[in-house]
Amino acid sequence: MKMSKISVLLCLLFLSSSGFVNGSDEKKIRIYELKKGDVSMKVTNWGASLLSLLLPDKNGKLGDIVLEYYSIKDYTTNTTNFGATVGRVANRIRGAQFMLNGTVYKLVPNYGKTVKNSTIHGGARGFADVIWNVERYQREGNRPTITFSYHSFDGEQGFPGDLIATATYTLLGKNQLGLTMKARALNKATPVNLVNHAYWNLGNHNSGYILGEDVQIFGSQITAVDSENIPTGEFTPVKGTPYDFLEPRTVGSRINQLATGYDINYVLDGEKGKMKLAAIVHDNKSGRVMKVFTNAPGMQFYTANSLKDVKGKGGVLYQAHDALCVETQAFPDSVNHPNFPSTIVTPDKPYYHHTIFKFSTKPCSSGVST
Ligand SMILES: *[C@@H]1O[C@H](CO)[C@@H](O)[C@H](O)[C@H]1NC(C)=O
Ligand SMILES: *[C@@H]1O[C@H](CO)[C@@H](O)[C@H](O)[C@H]1NC(C)=O
Ligand SMILES: *[C@@H]1O[C@H](CO)[C@@H](O)[C@H](O)[C@H]1NC(C)=O
Ligand SMILES: *[C@@H]1O[C@H](CO)[C@@H](O)[C@H](O)[C@H]1NC(C)=O
Repeated sequence: MKMSKISVLLCLLFLSSSGFVNGSDEKKIRIYELKKGDVSMKVTNWGASLLSLLLPDKNGKLGDIVLEYYSIKDYTTNTTNFGATVGRVANRIRGAQFMLNGTVYKLVPNYGKTVKNSTIHGGARGFADVIWNVERYQREGNRPTITFSYHSFDGEQGFPGDLIATATYTLLGKNQLGLTMKARALNKATPVNLVNHAYWNLGNHNSGYILGEDVQIFGSQITAVDSENIPTGEFTPVKGTPYDFLEPRTVGSRINQLATGYDINYVLDGEKGKMKLAAIVHDNKSGRVMKVFTNAPGMQFYTANSLKDVKGKGGVLYQAHDALCVETQAFPDSVNHPNFPSTIVTPDKPYYHHTIFKFSTKPCSSGVST
């Protein structure tokens, strides 16, 4: 009796100290809204996640273009990472380990096709699976903005050193969403790769397949992968392959040549470390266009291949290819490839990742003028 009470207490203490939901006000899951003109969006402190983004279509009709779970509670139990800020290191790390400055760090393995011997998205409980603090929040005005922060402790999921990460969403200019992800190492060098995992459907979150949306990706190479979808360290030119989106093509134009769809990192062309155009997505039914600019070296293009009967807002069931992700990022498994741009952050060298999504509309591409 006494023992079980103590263990319940210990368990509650553990849960509250580790960022899980508890009764206290600070650690509740909350929803915040940003609003500027026609554009409005919602975010939550759970995983610093983007929940919705409402934008006009070519006829001025508002639509919500990001996928979201039916209930906020599903974020705590499910694994799609809808809209989340993923970390400490998003994407895959081969063998769930890496060596840094002579020390081997072992991570929590949670990924693998048959054996879970690698790590994905920061481990079993990554940054997408914790409550972040709200540092700053301005709902309306000229620059509606919200900044979330998360203090990741030394050894969390196996990663070295304390790290303070922040994610700031800002509604800018006309129909623009800015996203700034920063991180500061407090005491040890560590790899960092923060990624926003929004699932986009420019038609509307519940409008089904995105196979008809046009995509252009400004990356002439991909990081080649093995059967586990982890980089080998080589680069493959996209020219003449189904991965070639150098000119705009519909997502579905060659998807049948792939096993389940796109899930691959593009090496972005353009100057290293500078803001550059990474991708343009266009939905010709709604007329919505999204341009993605970033200072990151890579972008994962993912066609939501593993969605299956996932209950979304309004009760819609999301299926494979009902959304696409354009996740600006460092190359996957960088920490095990000295020839990839370094992801190592030290107390002297903070992390800075800036992405801007610029939205607009244009009439049908079929030549019909409106
Ligand atoms: C993980 O397990 C798979 C399946 O057994 C194996 O092919 C692969 O080499 C292993 N990876 C590592 C890094 O040990
Ligand atoms: C590696 O270790 C050396 C010696 O301990 C230290 O001076 C250096 O700052 C470390 N480098 C990193 C990236 O941690
Ligand atoms: C979340 O995951 C659980 C267990 O994996 C599943 O039963 C449930 O249907 C999922 N919920 C949604 C909204 O997909
Ligand atoms: C959209 O594009 C498809 C194929 O590219 C075309 O068949 C269709 O007519 C277009 N629809 C509109 C509204 O432009």
